[in-house]
Order: sequence, then structure tokens, then C-alpha cells
Amino acid sequence: MLDKKRRDGSELYKDKKDLVSRINLIEKYGTNDFNQWLLKKLKLQQGEKVLDIGCGNGSQILAYSQVTNNIVGIDLSESLLREAKKRIKEFAPGKDFVLIRENGENIPFKENTFDVVTCNFAIYYMNEKEVMTEIKQVLKPYGRFLIASPPDDTSREMVEMHYRVAKYIPPQYQPGSSDLRKEVLPVAKKIFCNLSLELFVNPIVFPDVETFMEHYMSSTLYVQSKEWCENLLFRMKKEAQRVFAERGNITVTKKVEALKGYKRGLV
Ligand SMILES: C[S@@+](CC[C@H](N)C(=O)[O-])C[C@H]1O[C@@H](n2cnc3c(N)ncnc32)[C@H](O)[C@@H]1O
Repeated sequence: MLDKKRRDGSELYKDKKDLVSRINLIEKYGTNDFNQWLLKKLKLQQGEKVLDIGCGNGSQILAYSQVTNNIVGIDLSESLLREAKKRIKEFAPGKDFVLIRENGENIPFKENTFDVVTCNFAIYYMNEKEVMTEIKQVLKPYGRFLIASPPDDTSREMVEMHYRVAKYIPPQYQPGSSDLRKEVLPVAKKIFCNLSLELFVNPIVFPDVETFMEHYMSSTLYVQSKEWCENLLFRMKKEAQRVFAERGNITVTKKVEALKGYKRGLV
């Protein structure tokens, strides 16, 4: 069982600026685009009804809106839902999606409602078994799901820099794949069929020390270590300057693992 703080995303991201800043920097300096990769993997079709669990500020919803207008997003955070509505108004004007404050562990939709259900970078805040059971319930027969989560070696370069400086990795820092492989996959095997795991690799190339530091400060690695490690920020900046002087940029390789599968038909 995960500890409470980790399961409650709204507690972990008390300051929503952290999460939004992290997402924006990845979008800006990433070499590859996760959302476009996701669209290809989902093979989303026009008119299909999609549910995005833990939709945050709507990054994936905006991607899905390139293909379908039938989208529902749920999240526990009121402020991220507000941000999502604002972004949809700006980047997908005229589109009217359902965005509601609901818990992924208790999805308030009827059986057999959705063609596709996704949960990106959010399953580790929830009870995996409960979410998977809910997904099965609301998916139509032969409907498909995709759950994306970072593997343990994501952002390896940043974790190594942090460790060189802090000599400390906070126990709560678990990027997620152990959840996907150890917690989600065994449950999924019992409920779904045609399961597959896929890997997305995205080197984030930070052009200067300041943007890297902004990213680091928005990460849970920093958030969860700052009270423990003296002068952490000052020492991390020195380390970032050293790496930058050596390489001319600071690259952090983000990885995402995605578990895909289908609901069985009416047998
Ligand atoms: C790291 S963010 C990912 C947001 C979005 N999917 C993205 O990739 O940009 C995780 C999200 O899960 C939400 N969350 C955490 N626990 C939740 C729960 N039990 N039910 C619904 N959403 C939850 C948080 O509020 C947060 O918006």
C-alpha cells in the first residue's frame, strides 16, 4: 500500500505551480512529444468517447481533441481543472468537454460508457486495483485503456546530479514503474486481455542552468528533500553550472512506460 501523502496528489502538489511549471518545461525543451506518441499508440478514432483519469491541466485532453470531440476529464484538483478549462478555451476554442472533480477510484459513469480510458502520470496517487476495476466497469466491451507512468530510471541524469550533491534520495521519491509493473500489471492480467508494455524516450535539453534549476525545483526530488538537505539549492546550482560548463547543455532523459490493454467482449 502506498503512503497517504503519495496517494493524494493534491497534497503532494500543494503548490500547483510546481506541476504546471514541470509540464510546461518538458513541452518546451523535450526532443519528442509524448502526447503525439500517445495518440499513435491509442489509434484514437473520430467520435470515440474518451475518459482521462487524473487529467491535470488538460495536456492529454488537448491532444485527444485533435481527433475526437467526445472527451471527459476527471481530477481531484479544482485548480488544475480550472487551468485545463482555460487551456481548452485558448487552444481548442469552441470545444466543450466535460471536466469534473471526481476520484479515479470511484468513477461516476455507467457501465460500458467509454471506447477509451487513459490515466497518464497519475495512477501512482491512487489505489491501482480500485482504479483498474473502475476502468473495466466504464469501458465498453472491446474498449481499450492505456496507463502511462515513468519507469525507475527516468530522469537518471538529474537524479544522479541530485545524489552527488545531497547524498540523499527521499524515500517517497519513486518515479513509478514499480507500480506499473508490480502493482498494475498483475491486476490488469486478471481483468483485461491483449496487454502490452511500450516505452517512450524523451531527452529534455535545457539550454541554460536557470531553466534546468526551474525544472529541478518543480520535481518531487527537490520538494521532498529541501527540508533535509542543507543549502540544497545553492549546491545543486553549482553542480548544474559544472555540468553545463562541461557539456554546453544539461540533458535529462525522461522515459515513460505505457501499459495498454483491452476489455474482453461479451463472453
Ligand atoms: C502528475 S499529474 C498528471 C496530469 C496529467 N495527466 C498530465 O500528464 O499532464 C497527476 C494528476 O493526478 C491527479 N490525481 C491524484 N489523485 C487522484 C485521484 N484519486 N483521482 C483523480 N485524480 C487524481 C492530481 O490532481 C494531478 O492532476
